[in-house]
Amino acid sequence: MVISSYRFFLLSLAIANVSAVKHALFVGNLNAPASIYALEFDDETFDFQMTNNITADASHSWITFNHDKTNIYGTSNIAPRIASYAITSNKTLKLVKLISADKTCANHTSAFVVTSPQAPYHVITGAWPGPNACGMSFNVTQSGTLDRVVDSWAYANKSGVHGLALGRSNDDSNSDTLYSADLNGDAIWTHQISREDGHAQYVGKIGVKAGSHPRHLAAHPNGQRLYAVMEAGNRVAAFPIDQTTATVEDEESTFSLIPDSEFDVDSTISNYWSAEVMLSANARFLWATARAQVNTRIPGYISAFLLDEQGAIVKRMFRVPTTTVAGIANAVSPAPWGSEWAALTDVFTGYVQIWKMADKTEGSYGTEYATADAVARVDIPDGGCCANAIWYN
Ligand SMILES: *[C@@H]1O[C@H](CO)[C@@H](O)[C@H](O)[C@H]1NC(C)=O
Ligand SMILES: *[C@@H]1O[C@H](CO)[C@@H](O)[C@H](O)[C@H]1NC(C)=O
Ligand SMILES: *[C@@H]1O[C@H](CO)[C@@H](O)[C@H](O)[C@H]1NC(C)=O
Ligand SMILES: *[C@@H]1O[C@H](CO)[C@@H](O)[C@H](O)[C@H]1NC(C)=O
Ligand SMILES: *[C@@H]1O[C@H](CO)[C@@H](O)[C@H](O)[C@H]1NC(C)=O
Repeated sequence: MVISSYRFFLLSLAIANVSAVKHALFVGNLNAPASIYALEFDDETFDFQMTNNITADASHSWITFNHDKTNIYGTSNIAPRIASYAITSNKTLKLVKLISADKTCANHTSAFVVTSPQAPYHVITGAWPGPNACGMSFNVTQSGTLDRVVDSWAYANKSGVHGLALGRSNDDSNSDTLYSADLNGDAIWTHQISREDGHAQYVGKIGVKAGSHPRHLAAHPNGQRLYAVMEAGNRVAAFPIDQTTATVEDEESTFSLIPDSEFDVDSTISNYWSAEVMLSANARFLWATARAQVNTRIPGYISAFLLDEQGAIVKRMFRVPTTTVAGIANAVSPAPWGSEWAALTDVFTGYVQIWKMADKTEGSYGTEYATADAVARVDIPDGGCCANAIWYN
């Protein structure tokens, strides 16, 4: 079952992997104003434009699509609620519903949201900042609009949950595996979320090296590896997943996201705080970013790692400086239509930039790249842009 669903994933990817030339994106704001911008990128001419400035409910620290890209959900780390938008065209949204944080999460804000891939669909958030972090699950209507909070749960008192990832959906089970990055608690938690009613059940928790601060997670679609970006540790780590319980096992490998000369020196490692980790569409590359701190004038870094079929990290392909400090955010968003492409944001300079891997070679693990270049950029210097960008097509 495990293998057949992974093959199906690869097959559907091959069918979907047709370059459409023009691609639409949406990007939220981390700080005021409350806007979501629509963008359009042409992958032949590299023309990149903002196509709409949409009034949002709040500055959304994270936005995500639902499974069929008919809706966008947005969280805010200022307002204790989540917004549900219907996508009315490739550059327009309609705010349909706002749901206040409730139950264990009453009054808690959130910096992240994930959506389950299989019906009946659920939407899940984790509370940020801490302490006393909690999680919430929502159900949705037929059209994908958020309906209501169906469950909430507590983490530990010192917890602050920044990032979430859903593990491989097991067709045989009636639940989805949720991994939570507890940044303040230096832990990664595993819950099972029931497909039937959205209720969460605690399964396990693993501590990471004290002071690492796991911020965001990515789960390999084959269900065998979880990756974490460590904000204070300025590194990415791979964790095998127990195939029976879906819990996270001891760290298997780790790679620095900043130059080695700076990684070893306390005074320079603190100039960075790593931000993001995401898989390419073909799940062969792992993108990760490190921000330079707001009070510096040094650039951040963008890296990509080569994975084997089991999802183990084979090596770092490249680690190159970004074009600006990044400061608060340099969220990388791999393109669903081409595994060598990604969008990258920057707060406070305020832009969305397109990166493309370069210097292609064929190695023993297949195609790999020795570097990446920034090929296009749209400036949106409104003071709050840009949190995370998401690819509509
Ligand atoms: C967006 O929709 C318009 C109108 O249907 C179309 O002309 C345009 O090519 C679309 N752009 C993208 C990137 O899909
Ligand atoms: C939420 O905040 C409101 C207003 O500050 C306060 O009255 C209420 O007690 C809080 N609820 C919880 C569960 O903390
Ligand atoms: C959402 O969950 C609530 C509580 O379980 C239930 O009453 C409601 O019918 C559900 N909504 C949908 C659209 O399934
Ligand atoms: C954890 O936090 C809750 C809610 O603030 C509080 O009621 C409880 O006493 C705390 N527990 C510990 C062990 O500090
Ligand atoms: C988008 O609209 C908002 C609200 O009018 C405004 O504050 C913001 O500056 C606009 N953004 C850009 C890039 O013009």
